[in-house]
Amino acid sequence: MYSKEIQSDMNNIDINTIPPIQEPERQYYFIAKCREWVYEQEQKSGRKLTACINTFGCQMNARDSEKLVGILNQIGYLETDKESADLVLYNTCTVRENANLKVYGRLGYLQTLKKKNPHMIIGLCGCMMQEETVVEKVKKSYGFVDIIFGTHNIFKLAELIYDRIQNDRMTIDIWDDTEMIVEDLPIERKYPFKSGVNIMFGCNNFCSYCIVPYVRGRERSRKPEEILKEIERLTAEGVVEIMLLGQNVNSYGKNLDKPITFAALLTMIEKIDGLKRIRFMTSHPKDLSDELIEVMKHSKKICKQLHLPVQSGSSRILNIMNRCYDKEHYLELVDKVRTAVPDISLTTDIMVGFPGETEEDFLETLDVVKKVKYDSVFTFIYSKRTGTPASIMENQVEKAIVKDRFERLLKEIHTISKQMSSRDVGKTMEVLVEEANEHNNDLLTGRLSNNILVHFKGGRDLIGQLIDVKLTESKGFYYIGELA
Ligand code: 5AD
Ligand code: SF4
Repeated sequence: MYSKEIQSDMNNIDINTIPPIQEPERQYYFIAKCREWVYEQEQKSGRKLTACINTFGCQMNARDSEKLVGILNQIGYLETDKESADLVLYNTCTVRENANLKVYGRLGYLQTLKKKNPHMIIGLCGCMMQEETVVEKVKKSYGFVDIIFGTHNIFKLAELIYDRIQNDRMTIDIWDDTEMIVEDLPIERKYPFKSGVNIMFGCNNFCSYCIVPYVRGRERSRKPEEILKEIERLTAEGVVEIMLLGQNVNSYGKNLDKPITFAALLTMIEKIDGLKRIRFMTSHPKDLSDELIEVMKHSKKICKQLHLPVQSGSSRILNIMNRCYDKEHYLELVDKVRTAVPDISLTTDIMVGFPGETEEDFLETLDVVKKVKYDSVFTFIYSKRTGTPASIMENQVEKAIVKDRFERLLKEIHTISKQMSSRDVGKTMEVLVEEANEHNNDLLTGRLSNNILVHFKGGRDLIGQLIDVKLTESKGFYYIGELA
């Protein structure tokens, strides 16, 4: 989905001259060039060309993929979820090693597909491609890959495809970092009524286990005017819920020419007519300000949900992780947030098996879980990422011990989340109706402000609307309800 102005700019491009230098006009030019090529291919083969994007990892990647789909649609590809498509793009994640292994595994399968369709274009992009060793490995062992690019230049997809079809070699374009934030390119949103909105890119925190700052680069905030303009455009198109995205939204705006706080940005966004719900992630505890808590307390639109990654409950480990807060500070924050917004749902990320983690450290983590009573927890086993300080720490924890701790953590979380997510049975609450239920066609699925799902009977015409539903039964991690 994109504005009328973009559409008309694209149609006015003269593709018989040299490409413009200026962005985004340069990309409009290459979109038009590729469109011409796709049209020729369609004439030759007598069918439409298809494209499939497979997205790994976080919400940020999901949003990037919407931008990539937007460009591919403009070029003329039909979107499909089948990897036997004419163009297959993997938007990769590298936060844990498992994600990398999955991509290498799937590449073998893509090679067999390419043997059947030699004109197939295979592209790899995203965080994993920002690692030099990965690109070397792909060049050496996966020579059938056509295009490789990273996280800083996804807006260049059309130019890279055009380069590949003009030259019979692998097209590789990886940028170490960028100051550029290219606005106004086409985007194909997955849902018409809700959308992610990037407010910043990159991360400056350098938690000692984390590869993100190396692959996503330094923190860059978008200007508030650009963000507001985008949200206004989205609401005009029917979006009622937005998720503001950034690795550390609480430090939004610090590096702008005219610095502003995340809380101030939220206050401006709140005023946009037609917008009903605001979510954001991820919040870093070290930057969660009193000002933000105050804004959340008085807001009519900010959802009753806060994702506040704790990672570990041990102050000793938090220090070695370079998280810049300790257990006490984190628990105080949770108290402050709950006092201000009593019905808030808290979620977190927890990692077990960080180098040097002892049984006592782990018990501190369990203690935080018991004290905070999270609605849900994303749990991770520490994964060694080359290039991070933690990867060369000597006291890596034995696998069997990590597994045992991980299972004990899951058990604790399960018991608590079950209690927490049944606390609203009997109440009538507002949901945003998202889709028809996958398993039962009579049922709709809606999302509460606190992010918990509710399944209830209703007609499909309700999809995209905010309606009241009575929560009749808790199923542990979701509710069954009925129209109120
Ligand atoms: N190993 C395991 N989990 C990690 N995360 C980040 N880096 C690693 C790693 N090396 C987890 C953190 C973060 C979430 C997005 O991923 O918990 O909050
Ligand atoms: Fe990684 Fe820490 Fe930045 Fe999150 S805040 S992306 S965990 S370095």
